[in-house]
Amino acid sequence: MIKSLASPCSGAGSQKLKFDRSCKKVKQRAVRMELTITQPDDWHLHLRDGDLLHAVVPHSASNFRRAIVMPNLKPPVTTTSAAVTYRESIMEALPHGSSFDPLMTLYLTDKTHPHEIKLARESGVVYAVKLYPAGATTNSQDGVTDLFGKCLPVLEEMVKQNMPLLVHGEVTDPNIDVFDREKIFIETVLQPLIQRLPQLKVVMEHITTMDAVSFVQSCKGGFVGATVTPQHLLLNRNALFQGGLQPHNYCLPVLKREIHREAIVKAVTSGSKKFFLGTDSAPHERRRKESSCGCAGIYSAPVALSLYAKVFDEAGALDKLEAFTSFNGPDFYGLPRNSSKITLKKAPWKVPEAFSFSFGDIVPMFAGETLQWQPFFE
Ligand code: NCD
Ligand code: ZN
Repeated sequence: MIKSLASPCSGAGSQKLKFDRSCKKVKQRAVRMELTITQPDDWHLHLRDGDLLHAVVPHSASNFRRAIVMPNLKPPVTTTSAAVTYRESIMEALPHGSSFDPLMTLYLTDKTHPHEIKLARESGVVYAVKLYPAGATTNSQDGVTDLFGKCLPVLEEMVKQNMPLLVHGEVTDPNIDVFDREKIFIETVLQPLIQRLPQLKVVMEHITTMDAVSFVQSCKGGFVGATVTPQHLLLNRNALFQGGLQPHNYCLPVLKREIHREAIVKAVTSGSKKFFLGTDSAPHERRRKESSCGCAGIYSAPVALSLYAKVFDEAGALDKLEAFTSFNGPDFYGLPRNSSKITLKKAPWKVPEAFSFSFGDIVPMFAGETLQWQPFFE
């Protein structure tokens, strides 16, 4: 449900007409001030463990009903039994009374056995398997070195169990330019993968390029989807160097050119069912970001809903926001949509400069900036 500010003339839908002094008709969008939508889920989230988990989980739990929890801990979550234990520690860290539901994932390695996929399905708490090409990103050193050579039996079992493969889509060859790694991954790994296993459900995580948009759109049959982060919708690679090196805008896959950002905005605001919300909120302590070798990852959980609303608002597509945040993800995973609601209101607020904890600070995305949309809960 969308509420608008009273307009000087009447009219249905989002486009209304206004008459200026010379009686020229000026087409203008009504100013939407309030939007009530089904509570969103986050289909790509890093919750970490230990102190960091306790620090960050309230931000996700207060905004989202469910989240796909990434398994790149140290050591990684490679078995169902480790995923069950990790889930218990998340449940213990939740604020009292929270109904947040963490959906667990397994970290695929060269050694993962197909039987582990059966156990994962039977557990009722593991919803997907994450492919990190070895060396592609934070804690990916135990990831896959040769998908087709080492993991085919596991992938075949995933088809049988209808278990989605979540893909960090970048090649790791150091000779390949970092800005081309997603495009080349699509050509050399994803295209052959879906040809070989057309029934495998695949989520291309945190897409960053027009090539990824085209690839996902070209896949028929509802087996391939993509998550989209707030940073890849709002920032291009200039944001890494604006006025000096900006470590808090550094994530992987790295931000790309403006034409890529525009293609992603167009795709998500088109109403396509293939694209859904995945923040890739990836907290690191400030000193590990502001360092001579800074970690990749942007902490977006506290601002994500506000930022997605900004993107859809600026594109004149607020009527498409709910499908992206709350329908396309559960529909892809074959899970029920949430019944709880949230209301987003246009009420300016300032993002904190940092969140402080006993172990240090975490700097959120858009720290210190003023945002327009704010979520409110029933
Ligand atoms: C993530 C992290 O820090 O765990 N970092 C990131 O830049 N996105 C890992 C990942 O999803 O690549
Ligand atoms: Zn991630």
